[in-house]
Amino acid sequence: MKTEDQLQFQVLLTGPIPAEHLACLAAKAGLTHLRPGFSGSEPALLDALVGCDAVVSFLSERLSGYVIEMSPRLKVIANVAVGYDNIDLEAASRKGVLVTNTPGVLDETTADLAFGLLIACARRIVEADSFVRNGQWSGWLPDLMLGVDIHAKTLGIVGFGRIGRAVARRALGFGMKVQYVAKREGERKLTPELAGCKSTTLHELLASSDFVSLHCPLAKDTFHLIGQAELSVIKHGAILVNTSRGAVVDQMALLAALESGRLGGAGLDVFEEEPAVPAKLIERKNVVLTPHIGSASVETRAKMAELAVNGLLTAIDGRLPSNAVNPEVWPQFVNRLAIVGRSNGSK
Ligand code: GLV
Repeated sequence: MKTEDQLQFQVLLTGPIPAEHLACLAAKAGLTHLRPGFSGSEPALLDALVGCDAVVSFLSERLSGYVIEMSPRLKVIANVAVGYDNIDLEAASRKGVLVTNTPGVLDETTADLAFGLLIACARRIVEADSFVRNGQWSGWLPDLMLGVDIHAKTLGIVGFGRIGRAVARRALGFGMKVQYVAKREGERKLTPELAGCKSTTLHELLASSDFVSLHCPLAKDTFHLIGQAELSVIKHGAILVNTSRGAVVDQMALLAALESGRLGGAGLDVFEEEPAVPAKLIERKNVVLTPHIGSASVETRAKMAELAVNGLLTAIDGRLPSNAVNPEVWPQFVNRLAIVGRSNGSK
């Protein structure tokens, strides 16, 4: 005879979400929370997923093909992030596991951070703050902490989706010229407010932009999109901002470009092996580093949790959520859900 836990739809939460969204989920499913300090290792994640039908995950968890294959009850992965490179999507789709993400609710917040990093690098804000705190300031000097202007300069945006466009709007407001490379279908159509932005090639963008900001998802075709070859043509002294994914940039090549002076600075929110950050990056004054906080505002994180939970509840209810990234698995998912429903007599 099955216990109540085995019959109810079980959801694993790998991190905290606001209480109101937790309550909505608890009304429909049994919840398991990962203990604080969860190592994130594959065996620990596998262990936690035993007996779970769904997981509300964050980008710190790697849902590898192995983890997905070895979790027999798993049917939904509700990733509280817009990027889902932490999930083996092919493995999930093969197994009929529905994957959802949180698009559209974090664009402005992430764009704020990208633009903040751009300004911080251009005007040496972090370096200047340390200078004051360390008691090094002995008086106003005409050549103290000189940075570079932002207005009238050219910003190159790589990836012109929702976040890239939100960055473009900010840049236009600051009197910058904006050029972009569209990396995905549908990124070429411009709304009137972005009519002044110019489409170009990656090579041309790198060679002629004073600032370059990256806004493409990490995928096979964007892994190390900015490598040694690209950094060797980047405009001398340009500032690179990355709030997308660390592996879009070859970190070793980035370090070399900073060391040679080819790059004038970098604002980095993402890294190749998070949370590891190379000591050589940490040592550099012309680099501003943040710990992957692009979407980290109270309001936006709440909206992301809400979207993830609503998507999951919609799926449990037998309707395809609009934030599914692999909607083609729906028939297979519905079959697997019906089996759970039949075994607890509710559907
Ligand atoms: C953050 O990096 C996200 O993908 O939501």
